Amino acid sequence: MAEKKIPKITIPYLHAKKKQGEKIVALTAYDFPTAKIVDEAGIDLILVGDSLGMVVLGYENTIPVTMEEMIHHTKAVVRGAQRPLIVGDMPYFSFHMSVDETVRNASRFLKEAGTQAVKIEGASKKRLKLIETLVEAEIPVMGHVGLTPQSIYHLGQFKVKGKEIAEAKTIIQNAKDLEKAGVFSIVLECIPMELAREVTHSLNVPSIGIGAGPYCDGQILVFHDLVGYANGYLPKFVKRYADIHGGLNKALTEYVEDVKNGKFPDDQHSYHLKKTEVLEQIIGENKERK
Ligand code: KIV
Repeated sequence: MAEKKIPKITIPYLHAKKKQGEKIVALTAYDFPTAKIVDEAGIDLILVGDSLGMVVLGYENTIPVTMEEMIHHTKAVVRGAQRPLIVGDMPYFSFHMSVDETVRNASRFLKEAGTQAVKIEGASKKRLKLIETLVEAEIPVMGHVGLTPQSIYHLGQFKVKGKEIAEAKTIIQNAKDLEKAGVFSIVLECIPMELAREVTHSLNVPSIGIGAGPYCDGQILVFHDLVGYANGYLPKFVKRYADIHGGLNKALTEYVEDVKNGKFPDDQHSYHLKKTEVLEQIIGENKERK
């Protein structure tokens, strides 16, 4: 019997969720097994974030991440997840050179990797034009305002944006401009929850918050932060639901001890010859060779 195909989550479905006041649950993933678990948990949207660079590839920030790295990991995620809508994150310098190159890079996520959309940080005038062009080319785009990690060298450090009036106004305007440019959803990163509520109410498309409080239409976290796989600094907004690092550490320490002490592999985890005569023959032939 043919395997039943699970229907994929669509952009109209996410829009309906916003209308009905149902929360959208999103998470990042970067590989096949994680994508499978994330799918099984009932997550609506997977972002293959350029946070890949920091949590998987060990870069200091997201700047070094390349298109090739993003496509490679995104393909694995697409193979692992059936139901969630999958969004590929446009890495730094994949949309900065020309409109043609931006469209080509964005289309690679859809055509080569198999995502349903891309995400782009920022809302400058030039960025808005690019987004319009992508939407015109049938490439759904997710916007991203507030803290935009690809601006790290301008910002100097990752910190909450929009605490004061001028920056708060800019964020509201950025979100409205992005909606006008045609994005299907907007990530609000690291902004005060009162501001996120205002932005969310002023939008027809769903807001997906990360460090933006409870009033967004949906939430997203970095997988490694949520499950405690990352061992370093955790921002205030992250809630850890597991201690994978601790669990792995315990398992690996036990493995090291067992191998050193000859406890592993034991009989249960080893193979045997079919007949004892085979063993006798092997020993005999070995002796002759000596
Ligand atoms: O790259 C990423 O994981 C992101 C999320 C933090 C939204 O952009």
